[in-house]
Amino acid sequence: LFAGQTEFLKGVVAMNGLPPDDRLEVCFAGRSNVGKSSLINALTGRKGLARASNTPGRTQEINFFTVGDDYYLVDLPGYGFANAPLPVVEKWQRLLKSYLSGRATLRRAFVLIDARHGIKAVDEDILTLLDRAAVTFQCVLTKVDKIKAADREKVFDQVRTALSKHPAAYPEIVLTSSEKGDGIATLRSIIATLE
Ligand code: GTP
Ligand code: MG
Repeated sequence: LFAGQTEFLKGVVAMNGLPPDDRLEVCFAGRSNVGKSSLINALTGRKGLARASNTPGRTQEINFFTVGDDYYLVDLPGYGFANAPLPVVEKWQRLLKSYLSGRATLRRAFVLIDARHGIKAVDEDILTLLDRAAVTFQCVLTKVDKIKAADREKVFDQVRTALSKHPAAYPEIVLTSSEKGDGIATLRSIIATLE
């Protein structure tokens, strides 16, 4: 589905810069450094497509990627921490919130959760915003290669319990590793079946 046909379209810094809402759109949200850009690279099979980095706050714009003429994949700036001056951070956070609550063609928001940390208060804020905006969201656990199989169950339960309180949550939780490839094919097929 994605290989060879995903291209970077543009980075957006204000709502009036969004591309026309003329196709299916899915976005990747999550705390800074959770692995959003890495996941997009893994999904599309193109390593350097979305810029991934060790520095939290690397993605500072809403980055749009096109998959043929069918989809937009959207890489969002992280929330929760950023290595930038406060006014700049507040500007992104406002943009992020406007985007998440005001994009008609946004079919699903994938909310990435670090498998080592589970859902935090800052994540809850975003989940609540998505509930209010009636945007269906799905949780994706990232970096599962960094935890022991036994600990996966624990985070999984924590996330499942948290999701049960959110009306906009899609119940299936996807476990992924962009490094090792776990869950990538699953996530591709989830996106491919959206209408
Ligand atoms: P911001 O744009 O700053 O919000 O970060 P991001 O969510 O886009 O995270 P990014 O993809 O840049 O990854 C952050 C760090 O985590 C990088 O050093 C990645 O190499 C690492 N990382 C991402 N996914 C995985 C994974 O599945 N496994 C492991 N071990 N490391 C990962
Ligand atoms: Mg990023």
